[in-house]
Amino acid sequence: MNALADPAYLKLAHHIPPAEWALMHEDVTAIRALKRARNAIILAHNYQTPEIYHAVADIVGDSLALAREATTTSAAVIVVAGVHFMAETAKLLNPGKTVLTPDSRAGCSLADSITPADIRALRAAHPGIPIIAYVNTSAAVKAEVDYCCTSANARRIVEHAAHAAGTTTVIMLPDRFLAANTARETEITIIPWTGACEVHERFTEADIAQVRAQYPGVTILAHPECPEPVVAASDFSGSTAALAAYVTEHRPARAALITECSMADNIAAANPATEFVKPCNLCPHMKRITLANIRHALETMTETIDLDPGILARARIPVERMLAIP
Ligand code: 13P
Ligand code: SF4
Repeated sequence: MNALADPAYLKLAHHIPPAEWALMHEDVTAIRALKRARNAIILAHNYQTPEIYHAVADIVGDSLALAREATTTSAAVIVVAGVHFMAETAKLLNPGKTVLTPDSRAGCSLADSITPADIRALRAAHPGIPIIAYVNTSAAVKAEVDYCCTSANARRIVEHAAHAAGTTTVIMLPDRFLAANTARETEITIIPWTGACEVHERFTEADIAQVRAQYPGVTILAHPECPEPVVAASDFSGSTAALAAYVTEHRPARAALITECSMADNIAAANPATEFVKPCNLCPHMKRITLANIRHALETMTETIDLDPGILARARIPVERMLAIP
């Protein structure tokens, strides 16, 4: 197929010049054929680059949507275009399927900030207090906790966990900013950990003031991994899917997405009436995933995600508890 006649290019033309797209198209065509041959699907996080998001992904979304979709697919092979913890989550929900990561080095500063031994020490220090792990944690950490949560359901899980345990306090880890932003929305006391997202912690209140001064009337949408003053100075905060939904629903003339840069690139085509303004920050871990390494993963059926059966069985429990809460 002529690359420019590919219907996916309609959503990419604002972002990718024709000559660059023509070069990408060989990988795109190969990946589509490999998906059919392998009975594979590609789950892609909202921070993936537009050519992955629009041209080869089968399911796109926030961490919660990707976890939910991982439970419903009938495909034999799941390629996770996202970071390592997302691939682990897909695996623990699909132990019998092949889950591939295009680059196993795609980590996350949050997942790296806490270990299973840290959780055991927290539990010993706070007996009877439920422990909630953000989905941005390793399977080994999830295996030690009571509930999992994402940015889309943090308050609901905090309140559910406290109520179920008959407490007014929970431990929520590892993101200190998500914990602080969630604490603003609930009566429950949250004991945080010290982790932070290296992408979102860099935004400041001064950035928000500068955007408002430079772009009058701008709507500011911030991810809750941002520091609390940044979220407080914004017009709306939510998971990446909630930020996208806000733009679609409210159609602001100008919007600043205070999050990873690909978010705005990915939703720009569907929201032509909105001018997206900076700042944004790149996640170097998400950007390890490329068309070339997705193709390589499907060609070679590597790298597979393999979890210790004991860890898998225990880590699945808090994730399934989360998914059972509407
Ligand atoms: P959500 O897409 O769940 O909001 O998460 C953002 C994120 O940083 C994932 O790594
Ligand atoms: Fe981790 Fe932050 Fe990158 Fe998300 S954006 S994967 S939280 S480092």
